[in-house]
Amino acid sequence: MPGKKKKIPRHVAIIMDGNGRWAKRRGLPRIFGHRAGMKAVRKAVEFAYEKKIPYLTLFAFSTENWGRPRDEVEGLMNLLKEYVDRELPEMKKKGIRLNVIGDLDRLPEDVREKVDRALRETEDNEEMVLTLALSYSGRDEIVRAVRRMLRKRSLRARDVTEETLREHLDSPWIPEPDLLIRTSGEMRVSNFMLWQLAYTEIYVSEKLWPQFTKAEFKKALDDYARRKRRFGLTDEQIEEEPRGENAP
Ligand code: IPE
Ligand code: IPE
Ligand code: MG
Repeated sequence: MPGKKKKIPRHVAIIMDGNGRWAKRRGLPRIFGHRAGMKAVRKAVEFAYEKKIPYLTLFAFSTENWGRPRDEVEGLMNLLKEYVDRELPEMKKKGIRLNVIGDLDRLPEDVREKVDRALRETEDNEEMVLTLALSYSGRDEIVRAVRRMLRKRSLRARDVTEETLREHLDSPWIPEPDLLIRTSGEMRVSNFMLWQLAYTEIYVSEKLWPQFTKAEFKKALDDYARRKRRFGLTDEQIEEEPRGENAP
């Protein structure tokens, strides 16, 4: 629509899926798919930055992914280190803040150190927040949140509310995703951000992650701009007040 500003999501989360299939179709080992996937990550971050999306979250490695063959896990950890090394200067230049969610204690020490350094060196950046979900699963995040709550001795049962639980999640300062993109045509959430996705719009792209281009990303944003979010309320209520009082 000319002259009308398109609705841009504040937070986009992506389940980057299909690296293995991309490699298999080319007769290559899976790790080649992950390497190609890394290039797609770079493009996706660039696009989100160009579109001024303030929060981008990428599902890079799940707790379940620890169960993959050892060489694949090692390859992924090495790629992660390579990614941080290569992208840190660019993040600093652009003002991108790196953030991570997940059970970071399970990461190998050298990965952990690199990630920690990048977190520290970008913590004052304000242009965009790039969150990597590493050794992450939604159920695990909720369990860890409950543990954090219970460590507070003064906590009584009636103090446990949606709000207090939310405050103990990994990055409570980040708004819930408005749009979830999953690539490779899979119609499932695979244990990603179970709490935060309650009212997130979902877009599934048929492209395998290494084929996810800026044009594909744009299609998802265009689709999102046409969605009507109701948060459990009626159309009329939403028209009066863009977000209901009780909306997340
Ligand atoms: C996504 O691609 C990347 C990770 C899970 C690390 P996959 O490795 O799951 O690729 P497919 O689903 O086997 O094609
Ligand atoms: C989800 O993809 C995890 C990441 C993208 C990191 P998977 O490939 O692990 O999920 P499933 O096995 O298809 O559900
Ligand atoms: Mg997969």
